[in-house]
Amino acid sequence: MKKIDLGVLSGDILVFGGVYSNLHALEALIDRAQQLGIAPSNMICTGDVVAYCAYAEDSVERIRALGCPVLSGNCEQQLAANADDCGCGFDAGSTCSLLSRTWYAHANSQVTNGSRDWMRDLPDRITFTHNGLRYGVVHGGASDVSKFIWPVTHDDVIASEIALLEDQVGSVDCVLTGHSGITMTRTVGDKLWVNAGAIGMPAHDGDLDTHFVIISKNGIKNNQLYYNVEAAFQAMQANSLTQGYHATLKTGYWPSEETLPIEMRTQSANG
Ligand SMILES: [Fe+2]
Repeated sequence: MKKIDLGVLSGDILVFGGVYSNLHALEALIDRAQQLGIAPSNMICTGDVVAYCAYAEDSVERIRALGCPVLSGNCEQQLAANADDCGCGFDAGSTCSLLSRTWYAHANSQVTNGSRDWMRDLPDRITFTHNGLRYGVVHGGASDVSKFIWPVTHDDVIASEIALLEDQVGSVDCVLTGHSGITMTRTVGDKLWVNAGAIGMPAHDGDLDTHFVIISKNGIKNNQLYYNVEAAFQAMQANSLTQGYHATLKTGYWPSEETLPIEMRTQSANG
């Protein structure tokens, strides 16, 4: 397990993840950071730079050029290993598993050996200190890179993930995560568990905007990101990525609810 410590960070910190090959969203995020005066060294990516959308290699190149700290997501791990699937933790035969064959194959065909080398070298854990609090960053969970922690997940499960992370990196006050694609903030005991959400895909809530968080002296705030949805959609169509996630960009709902806990499923979705 590769761990990096960023030391003490000052000023606002922008935490984002789930770029999902959505270059238009990534460009919008970078513009937003520049407007907010947040330097790349204070931008932290929770992983999954590559997934559903059209611009796999371009997104990797853009984030490498940006130079911000990037955590290894399951998508990076699988591509680095030249694996045949995304390793998202979808059940075999599920809609998500079937859909992943198309987008993963597209990504796998784009990503260069140089980008795979970069992915192979990404850290599995990032730690830093900010305003006197110590933060730990994991992708899905400390027990599994593809662990799904949802807003409805029981406190006991989250507490055990925090305890395991502390075994791995030492005591933390707050855990920053990604993977599930849905933002959440949960206080468990005296610890905080935060999911920064995804910038590359809506959060299955019917809104087309996507999400990231900013840590400031005033606390942790969920932010909305608006980007050129139509351009991202057209690019997916042009690359025959028309199995469902392209429509998500325009409806705000995922093509399947199979990965979601039952209590989070909605009648509005297609799946
Ligand atoms: Fe992931």
